[in-house]
Amino acid sequence: MDDTGKNLAVGEEMLYLTKQEVMDTGFDVEDILNLTRDALVAHGRKEYEMPAKIGVHPYKEVFFHAMPAYVPGKKAVGMKWIECYPHNPERYGLPQTTGLLVINDEPTGCPLAIMDATWITAMRTPAVTVLAAGALHPGAEAFGMFGCGIQGIEHCKFVVHRLKKLNKIYIYDIREEAMDRLIKEVQPLIDVEIVKGKSPEEVTKSCQVLSSATVILLDPLAVVKDSWVSRGQTLLPCDLNTFWDPATSKRADKYIVDSAEEHMLFADMGYFPDGLPRITCETGEVIAGVQKGRESQEELIVCSNIGMAVCDVVVGRAVLDRALKMGMGRKLPL
Ligand SMILES: NC(=O)c1ccc[n+]([C@@H]2O[C@H](COP(=O)([O-])OP(=O)(O)OC[C@H]3O[C@@H](n4cnc5c(N)ncnc54)[C@H](O)[C@@H]3O)[C@@H](O)[C@H]2O)c1
Repeated sequence: MDDTGKNLAVGEEMLYLTKQEVMDTGFDVEDILNLTRDALVAHGRKEYEMPAKIGVHPYKEVFFHAMPAYVPGKKAVGMKWIECYPHNPERYGLPQTTGLLVINDEPTGCPLAIMDATWITAMRTPAVTVLAAGALHPGAEAFGMFGCGIQGIEHCKFVVHRLKKLNKIYIYDIREEAMDRLIKEVQPLIDVEIVKGKSPEEVTKSCQVLSSATVILLDPLAVVKDSWVSRGQTLLPCDLNTFWDPATSKRADKYIVDSAEEHMLFADMGYFPDGLPRITCETGEVIAGVQKGRESQEELIVCSNIGMAVCDVVVGRAVLDRALKMGMGRKLPL
């Protein structure tokens, strides 16, 4: 039995947590990395239930996804309801991604909490990238980040926790002010020098490990030309098939994805107009040691992580447990 019943009348009430309250539970980067690692290991060992996202699409290139998951080893069961509106920032001054996370009680099924999912998404996504980077390319000395928004900022904070040999982080964004803001926010927190890339080409050619978190569009922008990418690099897109020339993923020695099922679903929706590259294995399998990661220094590896509900419910469950212990949030009658 867990302690939930001590702090909440299960079946009669639930906890509501705002974004600020979720943040105030005080999980730091290492905590999030450890929780996300547990979720990825459970996924890699097939100790989970997570149907591929179902969604609705009010406009072209916009999606809402229902993301249910169950991770028995963590007693974590629930569902994230998330939206991706790529044009929100310029049209409305609102984030591309917002959402809510519902956590349920494993023994009874009762709803235990509804919490803002924005912060959890902003944390678990770089955690997946960085855990994968640590497993696939631990000796990297330069990391490149394309997109300096919410995700880019957190990626730069997280990456130094697993790539311990880094001596430079290159960043690039079409908006100068986004790069400036990232440097202002992140540089005081980390010892590795952050430099503004002059061009996507310079960044690509300067780094062994790169990630992108820009926009997810149906047709690839192919900002990074295939000819700029060398063997031996590790590319970790968070924005599916948009930022990189699709030819790169096609010719990679390994194309690893967080969820093969999710990638096939996105392919069915039209996000891989050139076809889905052949999938080698899943990120969690590499993290769990079930599948091999990098096998030689020459391998070009693309590891595409589009986001998995197993990570959300594991982090969300931990946030809920701590919030209840701390007496945070508002209890609402069911
Ligand atoms: N894989 C996942 O689990 C996951 C989770 C959350 C968000 N995402 C995706 O990550 C991406 C970024 O999300 P965010 O919340 O950080 O968004 P954001 O709007 O805060 O930041 C995106 C940044 O990318 C920049 N950008 C856009 N086009 C660019 C280009 N061609 N070249 C360089 N920079 C460019 C923008 O100027 C902006 O600063 C989105 O596509 C989002 O859907 C993925």
